[in-house]
Amino acid sequence: MQCSRPCFITDEALPLPAARRDGGLFHTSHWNEVLRNMKKTAVALAALAALAVSSAAQAQSARPQSAPPRAWLQCRACHTTKASEPDKVGPNLNKVFGSKAGAHRPNFNYSPALKNSGIIWNDRTLDAWLTNPARTVPGNRMAFAGIPDAAQRRALIAWLRNETR
Ligand code: HEC
Repeated sequence: MQCSRPCFITDEALPLPAARRDGGLFHTSHWNEVLRNMKKTAVALAALAALAVSSAAQAQSARPQSAPPRAWLQCRACHTTKASEPDKVGPNLNKVFGSKAGAHRPNFNYSPALKNSGIIWNDRTLDAWLTNPARTVPGNRMAFAGIPDAAQRRALIAWLRNETR
């Protein structure tokens, strides 16, 4: 497209039918149409954005539990967390919070040491148990050395509390 005169937006610069070339600087009707189209596009984009936000929110709520912390990788070989899951080498941990140690899975073959420990599982007793099971309950059967890092234990216990409810 070429401009012969000083080049504002003139008739020559606009792809308009010859009948509408009236020498004006610009055609109101043409720009109204352009504006209308821009508004339509904006409305469509806003609708798309709203859709994206709501489906992201849905994806969030469809995922009921958070991802396990790294420390859980050490436990899951021996433990499960959901009511429907079986005991493994260690007892299923569903509803373990608030229960008496060595009691909440009646069919599991607990050691006498754990059964007689008198422990009730809560954040504090679990923290001691997971720091060093052998020292906390001498003679227990959980073959696990412990998690020395306090922050890792805290994250694991917080996740377990929610996961095993
Ligand atoms: C090698 C297998 C094994 C690993 C690894 C293991 N456990 Fe255990 N766990 C057991 C066994 C076996 C028992 C029962 C111990 C007993 O009866 O003396 C047990 C008991 C427990 C109990 C007490 C359950 C109750 O009903 O009183 C908790 C809580 C527990 N484990 C949590 C964990 C967590 C958390 C981890 C990971 C940091 C872990 N365990 C790692 C095998 C394991």
